[in-house]
Amino acid sequence: MKASLFKITFGTPEAFVPTRFAPPSRVPVKEIDAAAVPEIAFSVSRRGCKLVLPLTAATQLYGFGLQLRSFKHRGNKITCRVNADPRSTSGDSHAPVPFFVTNEGWAMYVDTARNAVFQCGSDRNTGMVLQAESAESKVMNSTDELYAARTSATSVLTVEIPVAEGVEVYFIKGDTVGDMVAAYNMLSGGGCMPPMWGLGNFYRCCGQFNEEQVMAIADGFRSLKLPCDILGLEPGWHTHSYSCSYVWSERFPHHKEMLEKLTAQGFKINLWEHAFAHPAAPIHDALIPYSGDYLVWNGLVPDFSLPEAVNIFADYHKKLCAEGITGFKLDECDGSDLTGGWSFPDCAMFPSGMDGEQYHHLFGTLYSKTIKQALGSNRILSEVRNLGALAASYPFVLYSDLYQFEDFLTGTVNAGFSGLLWAPELRHAENKDDLIRRLQLVAFSAQSLVNAWYLDKMPWLELDATDEVREILETRMRFLPYLYTAFYDYYTTGKPPVRALVCDYPAAGEVKDQFLFGDLVVAPIAPGKTGRDVWLPEGEWYGFFDGKRYEGGLHHVETDGVPLYVKAGTLLPIAEPVPYIAPDTVFDITLRAFGDCAEATCRLIEDDGLTDGTDYRVLTLRRGETVASKRYRILP
Ligand code: GAL
Repeated sequence: MKASLFKITFGTPEAFVPTRFAPPSRVPVKEIDAAAVPEIAFSVSRRGCKLVLPLTAATQLYGFGLQLRSFKHRGNKITCRVNADPRSTSGDSHAPVPFFVTNEGWAMYVDTARNAVFQCGSDRNTGMVLQAESAESKVMNSTDELYAARTSATSVLTVEIPVAEGVEVYFIKGDTVGDMVAAYNMLSGGGCMPPMWGLGNFYRCCGQFNEEQVMAIADGFRSLKLPCDILGLEPGWHTHSYSCSYVWSERFPHHKEMLEKLTAQGFKINLWEHAFAHPAAPIHDALIPYSGDYLVWNGLVPDFSLPEAVNIFADYHKKLCAEGITGFKLDECDGSDLTGGWSFPDCAMFPSGMDGEQYHHLFGTLYSKTIKQALGSNRILSEVRNLGALAASYPFVLYSDLYQFEDFLTGTVNAGFSGLLWAPELRHAENKDDLIRRLQLVAFSAQSLVNAWYLDKMPWLELDATDEVREILETRMRFLPYLYTAFYDYYTTGKPPVRALVCDYPAAGEVKDQFLFGDLVVAPIAPGKTGRDVWLPEGEWYGFFDGKRYEGGLHHVETDGVPLYVKAGTLLPIAEPVPYIAPDTVFDITLRAFGDCAEATCRLIEDDGLTDGTDYRVLTLRRGETVASKRYRILP
């Protein structure tokens, strides 16, 4: 690894912090005495504690979790506060993370479950008389010029941690942004490894559907030849859903038979829920002593930091899995300051001793851990609407009720900075163009999700877009073995499968609307636009779809498709699309060469595709050579 990690303890840290619940670090961490770093000022007051660090005029900061409204944070005041549907650059997020990475070879993780505030660049009054840079007045011609002089040599980063009297801080030093992000992910226990089917296409059915309607959707996917691996059921499968009973409603009188039929058709089934247990839930009474002192929608909020609560919840979910369920979507586990105030307050108390503020930061992560326990060694890729620090190893993807294309693209670019995965899901569409552009982004994200929870028809049927949709869903399947390999790298080295260009290319510090998918550059076109400007890193590139050669730098592209670029010298394993992934699926692979590939190799991962304990085999492929494999047939 091209990064090193250091831990410094300031004051007396709190008991309930993310490291307490995270898997062990997979990289060494060196402890350093706070006295050895005098440039970091630490103090405690009645407000909590505070760290002040110097910034240079050029320090840029990326990260802070799932930020849907901003990319670069220099100058921002980021409050790491858990909230559904964030509206500004304030830091509020479904999944705020007190971790950022800079463009200057250092990154910082603050181990707290508090609403920490990062003031990313303020000038201090040092008591010194500052020289005016020039006595002459200067005419400003643009707002950029007007604000350019706002940062100076006295700039600092201030981190305020409410309540706490101390905190552990992890510093990462590394060559590139990507190296430091990978190191943070390895500190988190490594990236998650989904099952192969988890990377296929996922459709969430309308919440009011009954079993015939779900079966009709399943038949529709197969008869229309639209590849689909996973179907999700939304609230209506429960007898009570706000809060949840976790009991099948009368809409599904033969749910076991339905699950058997769907499984035989190659579908995996995912159930929507939240963790607020309704009085009618079979686990309600057992959870009473292990839940917080506030109810949400009349449901208990289990304290998943307690093994008793985890065991009750996980054991019940094991029974659902035994009937054929392969994943769960945990909704509403974020916060609600911006969306109606429905969650538990920050002053809530949980039996472990944690308060509501801390539990908001840990809720989604502890739930994910609980569901992992229910699934045993079976791998999943599921959904959750809140995660926090050190969550990279949990195979859960974040989503939002927001729906602006730009926010969804920003999330796709940003999530990988902080060990998170993000689904820019398709729901309804204004028109065919809106549908296609959104789905193009979906297909090149960590989870290819159509969330039709309020739509009684597949959203493309009335827009006469089924053929175009098929092509996009098949494209996802063509890249599936490649993406699976990228996830294996995430798992073993911490390198995120989907990430901002600046992770790999320092010159891409301003590129906020393109991202890397594996090592390919994706530059999605927004709905309503026919083209866009694309920035490519220095060197020679090829358009995947147009086959054209491009030089690094800016160019303009017009296309109905998604601009996708491959670096010269890349051998890319492309699969023939399959309708879904079965345990014995064999992919027909074509090795596509971009530029001079005489010496080039590429990799594919062979394993059972399903379980944690599997043996992974890394296949190295070259042009003109075959390889013995049960999973891949390399076409000449
Ligand atoms: C929302 C969630 C949606 C959908 C809906 C069902 O909170 O974000 O994806 O699941 O609930 O009621």
